[in-house]
Amino acid sequence: MFSVRVEKVIKYNENFSTIFFDSYLKSYPGQFIMVNVFGYEEIPLSLSSPNSVTVKAVGETTRALINIQTGELLGIRGPFGRPFTPTSDRALLIAGGIGAAPLFYLHDYLKTRCKSIKVIYGAKTQEELIWKSRFENVVIVTEDGSEGIKGTVLDLVKKEDIDSYSKIYCCGPKEMLKALYKHFEDFDVLNKTEFSMENYMRCGIGVCGSCVMENGLRVCADGPVFRGDELDF
Ligand SMILES: Cc1cc2nc3c(=O)[nH]c(=O)nc-3n(C[C@H](O)[C@H](O)[C@H](O)COP(=O)(O)OP(=O)(O)OC[C@H]3O[C@@H](n4cnc5c(N)ncnc54)[C@H](O)[C@@H]3O)c2cc1C
Ligand code: FES
Repeated sequence: MFSVRVEKVIKYNENFSTIFFDSYLKSYPGQFIMVNVFGYEEIPLSLSSPNSVTVKAVGETTRALINIQTGELLGIRGPFGRPFTPTSDRALLIAGGIGAAPLFYLHDYLKTRCKSIKVIYGAKTQEELIWKSRFENVVIVTEDGSEGIKGTVLDLVKKEDIDSYSKIYCCGPKEMLKALYKHFEDFDVLNKTEFSMENYMRCGIGVCGSCVMENGLRVCADGPVFRGDELDF
């Protein structure tokens, strides 16, 4: 484990923050770090850039983290895991809620490397749509219609010409991923999709077995990014 110092915190509202630290980690989009919030637990978080994590408060540790102050220290292990596979052609990014975190990093990485990027960014309500300005060419959708189009990301994906994309990257709640998986399975395009999975983790390095999925793959060491045709929802 090594320590980083918090350099800046962007607090979007009472439940969401992006925390920047003073070191750029040698990493790729889709990789995660184990973050030790001193006095609390060690938790897995995707990198939202080489020097940041973007966090939703769901329990004690994430609540403490979104309220951390500039100058405080965090313990870090990693970066770990298999990242997204880049494309030089047309990319479709599909983000649900805090699932946008690793896709912020991927978006910035692909921006100068691929032909075009389209983002579909959805959430239950406006409050969960954070840092929208990070995405260019983005379509917003909310379940309650408080911002953008009213509906789900799947409603928008159904209107896309899926064959025109060389890669489709998905991250969000399990139910959303499941629905997308089924849709892409029906169109027989799972081989060009990538899903970032978020199972409960302990060691983060493939040893303890706590993140194993039904298909036997470990989210921490075999993922967290998997090709659609490697998954079985
Ligand atoms: C590879 C990976 C990357 C992640 N990236 C991010 C990220 O970029 N930003 C972010 O905000 N969160 C991310 N998470 C989820 C984050 O790790 C959990 O929200 C965190 O561990 C919860 O800790 P806590 O002590 O605050 O809450 P806890 O008290 O542990 O849990 C509070 C509630 O959240 C649920 N929960 C806990 N862990 C998870 C999980 N992994 N998935 C779904 N529900 C969970 C619990 O069941 C419980 O209902 C990621 C998880 C993984 C495995
Ligand atoms: S967290 Fe221990 S094997 Fe994945």
